[in-house]
Amino acid sequence: MSGVVSVTFEDDIAWVRIDNPPVNATSVSVRQGLLDAVEKLHGQKLAVLDCAGKTFVAGGDMSEFDHAPAEPHLPDVVQAIENSETPFLALMHGNVLGGGLEMALGCAWRFAAKGTRFGLPEVNVGLIPGAGGTQRLPRLVGMSDAIDIACMGKVMSADEMRALGGIDEILDGDAKEAARAFARNLPKRPVALSLRDVPAFSATLFEEKEAALGKRSKGQQSPFENLRALKWATEPFATGQPKERKRHLELRQSPESRALRHAFFSERLVARPAVIRNATARDISHIAVVGGGLMGAGIAMACLGGGMTVTLIERDQDAVNTALERVAGLIDGAVKRGKIAKAEKAEMLERFTATSDYADSAGCDLAIEAVFEDLAVKQAVFKSLSAQMGADAILATNTSYIDPRQIFDGIPNPGRCLGLHFFSPAHVMKLLEIVKMPDTDPSVLATGFALGKRLRKVSVLSGICDGFIGNRMLAAYRREADYLLADGAQPHQVDAAMREFGMPMGPYELQDLTGLQIAWANRKRQSATRPVGQRYIPIADQLCELERFGQRSGRGWYEYTQGNRTAGRDPEVEALIETYSQENGIVRRRFTDTDIAERLMAVLANEGALIVNEGIAENTASVDMVKLHGYGFPRWRGGPMQYAREIGWTRMTDIMAQVASESPGSWIIADRPDGM
Ligand code: NAI
Repeated sequence: MSGVVSVTFEDDIAWVRIDNPPVNATSVSVRQGLLDAVEKLHGQKLAVLDCAGKTFVAGGDMSEFDHAPAEPHLPDVVQAIENSETPFLALMHGNVLGGGLEMALGCAWRFAAKGTRFGLPEVNVGLIPGAGGTQRLPRLVGMSDAIDIACMGKVMSADEMRALGGIDEILDGDAKEAARAFARNLPKRPVALSLRDVPAFSATLFEEKEAALGKRSKGQQSPFENLRALKWATEPFATGQPKERKRHLELRQSPESRALRHAFFSERLVARPAVIRNATARDISHIAVVGGGLMGAGIAMACLGGGMTVTLIERDQDAVNTALERVAGLIDGAVKRGKIAKAEKAEMLERFTATSDYADSAGCDLAIEAVFEDLAVKQAVFKSLSAQMGADAILATNTSYIDPRQIFDGIPNPGRCLGLHFFSPAHVMKLLEIVKMPDTDPSVLATGFALGKRLRKVSVLSGICDGFIGNRMLAAYRREADYLLADGAQPHQVDAAMREFGMPMGPYELQDLTGLQIAWANRKRQSATRPVGQRYIPIADQLCELERFGQRSGRGWYEYTQGNRTAGRDPEVEALIETYSQENGIVRRRFTDTDIAERLMAVLANEGALIVNEGIAENTASVDMVKLHGYGFPRWRGGPMQYAREIGWTRMTDIMAQVASESPGSWIIADRPDGM
């Protein structure tokens, strides 16, 4: 008998308990233990299956998915539970997910503690369930809700599950006592789910759900795979279930599932960089946010949402008033969208003040500066802050491009200084780059990570370079996109190719949306340090000189008809591009969508490798998480480094060599980084 599953007998009840911390995953020892437990039963009236710890079985053991499946297999275990002469009652609490729900579906009855949550999250890692989830669930709760759960990853509350007939009882007291009482008056055993038919559903259901999935899946295949598997539930279980199992095993080997699993594990990896492993985070309850513009207001909103007290500092009373309005507007927006309850609004506003007096920062544990991107202004801000705040109070800058070493130059106790680089809109975007300076104390970095967690962000450690990890990658991506324009492509074609790849937007649509000015200012700033011989395409500068700043000015890379946000191709821009090629003696050539996507991905992976090799990012997972959570890179592709891993580093380098040969002197080809 395996140690993780125990069986104890009490009168005519067998208590079968799984104890496999932290989440009672269905690893091989659990599967074997359950099979052994079923064999141990000998005429008891009822077997009660429950779990030790905080949760029922909350899923499979994903670390097993890269290896050949090991016996006993979960479908056989669930079948053994369903076939057991002694009927099973699942006694659930916490999360009942994936293999956990499949196990519960093999039981004759299901009881759940209040607050229990149910789901089939396999779709989120590119899979379908493999132990009858898509076959038994629709037979229990009906096809429509089974589709929402399996294809959309919808998590159901105990109340919702009860309403669907998915559980028999919600328990509010002593669960074991409830099971004993149930055993005393045991009802007739219901027909096993595998022997039931799926309740009737509308003839157009699959079509409607497929259309809905098409709108939200953005190229990800697993929602459709789940839909296909659910259709098999209309066949006899004996034919549907083996199909589900076979497809589940095939999908474990799919690039999409590998990428989604990579994302899952990478998120956990980047949360604990080596430098903070032995460090203790400090308590943060009161934050000063300096600058209440676009970023400052968003950062203030995020911190209020995280339960902190926020003092926002602006330069004068007019700016204070504007910032107050901005933050109030963000809170109202959150109420409107149902993100926060109306009652919470007043409580949030109580934790928020805005002022033009730096003395009000005195009691704060941390200050986050988000004033103009101007070194002198930022230096002055930290001088004022350090004169008012405690000698240990943490000082952070949200700068995008300025070297934080310059910003904090001369500030006493430099161990408390770091970069906290948020992404716009700061209360929405998940990414937080935590920028380490040579002197930053590990406990200060750990505090940054703890703050990120509290704000529900994905925090990634970054060293210092121009643009840190994310904007440096973006600069390389845009540079190659511009080379493609000069050599033969047009913006609409590059955008379409990248959307086809899975990006929510192409590079030019995105520039039009966010505005072309900041990048223009950056290019001017960088012109003195740009590597000699690097190809420079001035088309974006020409657009800015024509006051084509993007959507807000009605024209950018595209033309926007009044009040219309849809991009229209603009002959003026296309002519400008063609003229540039002509004047520079470039014979324009045709790039296919694949050519474009491959080149842009190679450039991203190459820049990511340079960033890792230079020690700016701790590992390739960090690069991928920056792209996923800050730049809308499709999760099902896993990130540019995972993409390179899929196509192979050699192939990636071949494409990069081609890219480099097309623009001599413009690219450094990276060595293969660790872990690729
Ligand atoms: P913004 O121009 O919208 O806001 C700057 C605010 O700082 C203004 O409200 C201004 O009144 C205030 N301010 C200026 N001097 C001040 C002083 N001495 N004391 C107090 N307040 C002062 O600029 P935005 O876009 O919010 O950017 C702020 C910082 O965040 C910049 O360093 C920028 O590079 C960085 N950042 C910007 C992102 C973006 O997408 N806009 C993304 C990530 C970082």
